[in-house]
Amino acid sequence: MNKSIERAKEHFGEVLEQQLLRIERMKAGEQKTDYNALNSIIVGIIGGDGIGPFIADEAKRVLEEILENELQSGKVEFRDIEGLTIEKRAEVNKPIPDDVLEEIKQCHVTLKGPTTTPRKGDPWPNIESANVAIRKELDLFANMRPVKVPQEGIDWAFFRENTEGAYALGSNGADVTDDLAVDFTVTTSQGSERLIRLAFEYARRNKINKLTLVTKANVVKTTDGKFLKVGQDIAKEYPEIEVDDWYIDIMTAKLVDKKRRTQFKVMALPNLYGDILTDEAAEFQGGVGTAGSANIGNKYSMFEAIHGSAPRMVTEGRAQYADPSSMIRAGAMMLNHIGYTKQARKLEMALDITGQFEKRLVMTGRDDGASGREFCDYILGTMNDPELEKKWNSYQQ
Ligand code: IPM
Ligand code: MG
Repeated sequence: MNKSIERAKEHFGEVLEQQLLRIERMKAGEQKTDYNALNSIIVGIIGGDGIGPFIADEAKRVLEEILENELQSGKVEFRDIEGLTIEKRAEVNKPIPDDVLEEIKQCHVTLKGPTTTPRKGDPWPNIESANVAIRKELDLFANMRPVKVPQEGIDWAFFRENTEGAYALGSNGADVTDDLAVDFTVTTSQGSERLIRLAFEYARRNKINKLTLVTKANVVKTTDGKFLKVGQDIAKEYPEIEVDDWYIDIMTAKLVDKKRRTQFKVMALPNLYGDILTDEAAEFQGGVGTAGSANIGNKYSMFEAIHGSAPRMVTEGRAQYADPSSMIRAGAMMLNHIGYTKQARKLEMALDITGQFEKRLVMTGRDDGASGREFCDYILGTMNDPELEKKWNSYQQ
């Protein structure tokens, strides 16, 4: 018995040391990339596995068309990054193979297809999720996920903490004995502050006067308590923004409440709550297949779909019917991030028209709906329509 506890103490001791080192790194800060100042912006395109390569291909096709001139002049360069597949990761028994990580670090930003996350009982070794590993490795501390349903008055921007919380030690918990399993959740002042500040800055920049902090601070008192307290302190610097705080359980319920949900605008929340709430939120917009996600750090950023790799679609021979909208939306977020805001706007309008308003083609994930290729052509056709803006405006209100 004592031996088990000693072993666990030692293990958690090491974990705590790593976390304290991480705090030192956060305190030291990291230089922010200025895309304007770069001669060439290097964009890595990672197919991933499952449906990933299918939808990443479509997103790449769209971006190649939008950035045709920039690619030709060398202002933007695309690099295909292979090998972030579950087979390769299982073979080297690492969440990211070393050579792949090296390639990713040579890029300024990446567009990443979904990657399979093994769990206990799978045929794969129980390695850490590639998403989680990349977020930690590149210190992509904020996960920004927008959800919009204009007809319903929904316009949400979720800022999910992306390197801490229940995910900080995802694969570093301990089976203290056969019966006692312990995981950790971690909240740091620095980690909370940089995420919440980004959310406030976003609200200020976009003249949004409402921000909601979401926790379960009444029960998870220490860590969620810290997140909430940090948020409330930062709020004092933004007097024009009204701040409220909600517990994750009732918040999850209120997102379904048509009368109440339109009051939410910008939300800042710890990692796991953000994971769950953004899947729910995306459902109102047409499903997780429609939602993009920006993983933002100071030096690097990574853009991806919010959903997983849907391996079942591949085994059932339906991968070509996977909806590429989520990846294309992530592509639009990337364009915005690296400074091509006009192009991003056009692409977003085309995504809104095709996915939410006009819906001339519908995706069902099966052969009774459009294929990803057909839907992507539909998006491209809509985007290149000279009447795009007029069309988009006609759907507003
Ligand atoms: C997401 C995904 C990931 C997460 C998985 C694949 C590890 O669900 O990006 O939301 O939980 O963060
Ligand atoms: Mg998720």
